[in-house]
Amino acid sequence: MSDLMPSQLQAFLPCETPQQWIEAALQNERILLIDHAQCEKKAASTAMNLMYRYVDRPELLTKMAQLAREELLHFEQVVKIMLKRDIAYEHLSASRYAEGLRRYVRANDPDRLVDILIVGAFIEARSCERFAKLIPHLDEDLGKFYRSLVKSEGRHFEDYLELAEQYAETSIESRVAFFSECERELIQSYDTQFRFHSGLPTAA
Ligand SMILES: [Fe+2]
Ligand SMILES: [Fe+2]
Repeated sequence: MSDLMPSQLQAFLPCETPQQWIEAALQNERILLIDHAQCEKKAASTAMNLMYRYVDRPELLTKMAQLAREELLHFEQVVKIMLKRDIAYEHLSASRYAEGLRRYVRANDPDRLVDILIVGAFIEARSCERFAKLIPHLDEDLGKFYRSLVKSEGRHFEDYLELAEQYAETSIESRVAFFSECERELIQSYDTQFRFHSGLPTAA
């Protein structure tokens, strides 16, 4: 994998993004950027939701407040790039990815919180890996932006994972292994629509 990414993150992900996805992304820059903007916005609101629900956990509150600010800044940056490229922001249906992981979140706390944090770690890690994989193929402007994102999404991955370890009553190893298998399946199976976190593209 790319040397842009922290080794802990590379070891965490169950598989590399398939080359077919990279090719589809390069052919669908418009959808890539619109869905990327959506992902940044959702990342900010996930962090905000955690801040509303878990007011009694100060480390979570401070880390999520910082994370939400960074995600909103990324959102603003993507929107500016879209404007420069004459890409109109339109509604896109959500990819199956995040829901495909969240559906397995357990119902009661602290299990619920731990699972949400582990899912957050996977989403951040996969985003970081995809930015890194795209960089060598991008123009200078987008390449520079994605390089800065690799750094912050790498930190977000660590934050989520550390919080999950902190709040779990036992080792998180088996839950990480479980979500890792789900993630692999979502990345390596065929997906009907191209999105930032989609699986293998179906033949056109
Ligand atoms: Fe972000
Ligand atoms: Fe992030």
